[in-house]
Amino acid sequence: MLNDPVLLNDWHVVAYAPDLQEGKPMAVRLLDEDLVLWRVGERIHAWRDLCIHRGAKLSLGKVQNQTLRCPYHGWTYNEEGQCIRFPAHPEQKPPARACAKVYQARERYNWIWVSPGNPAHDVPAFPQWDDADFRKIHCGPYKFNASGPRAVENFLDVTHFPFVHQGFLGDPAYPEISDYTAEIGEDGVTAKDITIWQPDPDGSGQGAWTTYTYKVIRPLTAYFVKSSEGPRFAMYFTATPVSECETIAWTYVAMDYGDTPEEQIREFEDAITWQDVPVVESQRPELLPLDLQAELHLRSDRTAVAYRKWLRQLGLTFGTA
Ligand code: FES
Ligand code: CO
Repeated sequence: MLNDPVLLNDWHVVAYAPDLQEGKPMAVRLLDEDLVLWRVGERIHAWRDLCIHRGAKLSLGKVQNQTLRCPYHGWTYNEEGQCIRFPAHPEQKPPARACAKVYQARERYNWIWVSPGNPAHDVPAFPQWDDADFRKIHCGPYKFNASGPRAVENFLDVTHFPFVHQGFLGDPAYPEISDYTAEIGEDGVTAKDITIWQPDPDGSGQGAWTTYTYKVIRPLTAYFVKSSEGPRFAMYFTATPVSECETIAWTYVAMDYGDTPEEQIREFEDAITWQDVPVVESQRPELLPLDLQAELHLRSDRTAVAYRKWLRQLGLTFGTA
């Protein structure tokens, strides 16, 4: 695992919670490290995927009686990560140092979040999650062979809509972006009053000027709320850094109107993301440059400029240059 204290001491989504079934360990990867997830009822465990005996992957093992048993020689670990049994020597009490590397794990928004370090904060907020006016539709996850910060910056960028998402989110005949503000505060970046023409912002079939508000609340977690007249549509986006240039984006759409079937909303978001992926994967340098002189910026790039400045203030190194 690379040594980036900002991301080590943060929360990252590693799985969709319903996919982690009782009795079945799951292998995931985060920050260049293999992890095993397993659950006992509501309790989720996230450990380094490595048996300290001979280094076999614990995710190939078995969950039974609230323990995880290594596939190789059967060393058996309790829920705290302590080895409690060497099958070859049942009379021998395993020493305290015979234990797995245990990380913090939480289930929130139907996702499993893991922190390899000691975060000073909780899992990032998702304001629409507890608001019953909003339907929440899980979309993705989406794999980008790109750095986490590049993927997040693409999520924050509306000026590509008329070109990458022509007919979906923008119209090349109306590529102008209103002037807007982007500010760095204690909890991240807020960009407000970003107005753009959209061919069909709310599913009514009518084109309209649409206003976006973006909030970046963690280095790799952001959401937007957009409104034309009345209906509100939000999207929550959190990017998991698998390695420096491999990212998995986990998203929810939240909307307070309409009864479009979830499957149709997912298909739309899938189509949008597959338009983004090749462009984001093509960006060079692959690591997001935090030196503002390294690329050119326009007034309409304020959100990205504020994002880069904030990452620099935080001292993020993983995925940036
Ligand atoms: Fe796990 Fe030997 S490698 S028990
Ligand atoms: Co896009």
